[in-house]
This record gives sequence, structure tokens and C-alpha cells, in this order.
Amino acid sequence: MNKKVKLAIIGAGGISGAHAGGILKHQDKVECVALCDVSESNLDARSKQLGSNPARFNDWKKMLAEMGDKIDAVDICLPHHLHAQAIFDAAAAGKHILCEKPMCINLEEADRIVAAVKKAGIIYMSAHNQLFTPAVQEIKRMIDTGAIGKVRWIRSQDCFIVGEGAFSGAWRSTLKFQGGGELIDTGYHPTYRLLHLAGADIAEIRGTMGRFEQPIEGEDTASVQVRFTNGVIGEIFTSWAVNRPYGTHDLHVIGDLGEIFGTGSELYYLPRGFKTPSEKILREADTFADQMGHFADCISKGAKVPHGPEEGRDVLKVILKAAENAEGWQKTAPVSA
Ligand SMILES: NC(=O)c1ccc[n+]([C@@H]2O[C@H](COP(=O)([O-])OP(=O)(O)OC[C@H]3O[C@@H](n4cnc5c(N)ncnc54)[C@H](O)[C@@H]3O)[C@@H](O)[C@H]2O)c1
Repeated sequence: MNKKVKLAIIGAGGISGAHAGGILKHQDKVECVALCDVSESNLDARSKQLGSNPARFNDWKKMLAEMGDKIDAVDICLPHHLHAQAIFDAAAAGKHILCEKPMCINLEEADRIVAAVKKAGIIYMSAHNQLFTPAVQEIKRMIDTGAIGKVRWIRSQDCFIVGEGAFSGAWRSTLKFQGGGELIDTGYHPTYRLLHLAGADIAEIRGTMGRFEQPIEGEDTASVQVRFTNGVIGEIFTSWAVNRPYGTHDLHVIGDLGEIFGTGSELYYLPRGFKTPSEKILREADTFADQMGHFADCISKGAKVPHGPEEGRDVLKVILKAAENAEGWQKTAPVSA
């Protein structure tokens, strides 16, 4: 297939705006032909942003049935508890899928998704947009070319203080709809970045959690340790209650020949034995647009999906095992839900 991908967005809320922005930047590759949301005002907003007058639906099953071959693929931007059902329905209809994180909220669903995608023979791309971050891509390239030798330790973090009232009445504040707390949401990003850079299977997962200031049922802060089968020790630190620790970076990798660390488009390289790192300024990127363009290329040109359903399952495994390992953390949480 070498034509424009006809895409339907399911869930026209906050993040779908960034996905729609990606469609607009790649109008030569992809067009949004349908939108589905239960909120008329969100349908209005997304339709206005896209300016392409997509067909509007309130029920994705109805949309899949009525649109039929007019849709090649769906882009799922729903609250977490709805991801699995939307994936099953889209896969059964033979549509390619780009799905926001997390893939789903438990491993039983994840196993069924891996099987359903295989059975349907469709392309499933986990929307792990930070794999398109210049620092992540350059660190991966430098690791693969041996710049820091054999990797020993990786820290991957994402921390910021969420403003007051951000969760009142929202699906994100409940375990039932969110599937956890901060770790399965913002913390999902540093988790897949770590798995991507470690480049080996998971050997052991440990975790601890806290809730310091957000009025949510889950944790607002998590610390996770992952040991990999190649010996790499990984650490994830992620929070909605503390900002990025002063002087640290979102990614820091140490190998036997040196270190690489950076955030966003800023990157530093410190060979072992040197005192001052050299700085690399990388290009700025719109990771959502790059992700959308790549998804279209996977469908039209056979490009490789960076993370498919198997990787989506691995990320979820780390998050759920860390939460299980952290059990009891609520007893010492300074803030109750
Ligand atoms: N990659 C990132 O950086 C990033 C950032 C924010 C959110 N996200 C992810 O995107 C997803 C959506 O988050 P959001 O912040 O946009 O949430 P949101 O609440 O702003 O949007 C969700 C939308 O789904 C709609 N919806 C709810 N139930 C529905 C149903 N049954 N049928 C159709 N539509 C329904 C809501 O009306 C809403 O418009 C989540 O998975 C979240 O983790 C990713």
C-alpha cells in the first residue's frame, strides 16, 4: 500500500490534540477521516483543529461497522480502562492500531492483545512517543556503537509537580480507570525508555512508592529498580510531587568506558578518566508528529514498528510488578487518597 493512510481517532480529548497536530504535519501520508468521542465539545475541538470535516461518532463499534473500508487504522487516545476493548474491536475489524500508553491495565488483557494482533495480522504500534526524542535516539546510537563500552547502569526519570486541582473528578485519580497511579501514566515513559536502552530481557523488578501531595487513589511518586539479563542495573524515578532532582538528567547511562546523560535535545558525553563532559546540542523534535509519520510509514512502506504489543506488555509488567513489590506503601503515605 502506498497511499494516504485513512485514520480514525478514538478519544478526542487532551492528547489527541498532539496526535492531530502530527496528522496535520504529515498530510501527505495520513488523513483523519473519522473521530469518536462521547463528548460533543471534544469532537468539536478536534474537528476544528483538523479542519478536514471528519465523520463523527459517539461509539467506536458503530464507527468501525459504518465506516468499514473507509478506515485503514485507528488511533486510540482513550482513558486507560477502555484501551483493551477498543484494541480488541479494532483488531477484529482488521484495522491497524496506534494506541496511547499504557496498552491496557493488566497482564491478562496484555496477553490477549498480543494474541489478537497476531491473529488479525495487523500492525500494532505502541505510542511510545519518547522513543522519538533526540536524546533517546542519540544515546541508543552511542550505546550501540560502543561509545561508553559495556553498559552497567541506567537511570531513566520523569518528574514534575502537578498543579492543584488537576485530578478533581478525573479518571486519572481512580485505580479502576487509571489502572494504578503516576507510574502507569507519566512513569510509563521512563519505563519504556529504560527497556529500550538496556536492550535485554528483564531479570528482576523491585519498587517502592509514595503519595506526597496529589489527591489520587494511586501513588504520585515511584522508584523502581530493574535488573536485566545482561547485568545492566536500571533505575526509574518518576513523580507528580517533586520536580526533576536538581543537577540530574532524565537519562543517564554509565558504561565501562564512560557516561552519557541528557534531557530532551541536550546531551553530554564524558569518556572515562575525563573531568569535563562535552555537550551535544541535538535538533528539536515534535515526537508526536514523528510518531504519526512513522506509523503511516509502517502501514504504507513497511517501516518497522519501534515498539509493538510485546514491548507494551513488557512495560506493563515492570509497572505492575513494581507496584506489587511496593505493596504496603500506603501505610506510610503522608497524604491519604
Ligand atoms: N504520550 C503522552 O505524553 C500522553 C500525555 C497525556 C495523555 N496520554 C495518554 O492518552 C490517553 C488519553 O489521555 P488524555 O489526557 O487525552 O485524556 P482525556 O480525558 O483528555 O481524553 C480522553 C477522551 O476519551 C473520551 N472518552 C471517554 N470514554 C469514551 C468512550 N466510551 N468512547 C469514546 N470516547 C470516550 C473522553 O470524552 C475524552 O475526550 C491516556 O492513555 C493517557 O495516558 C499520553
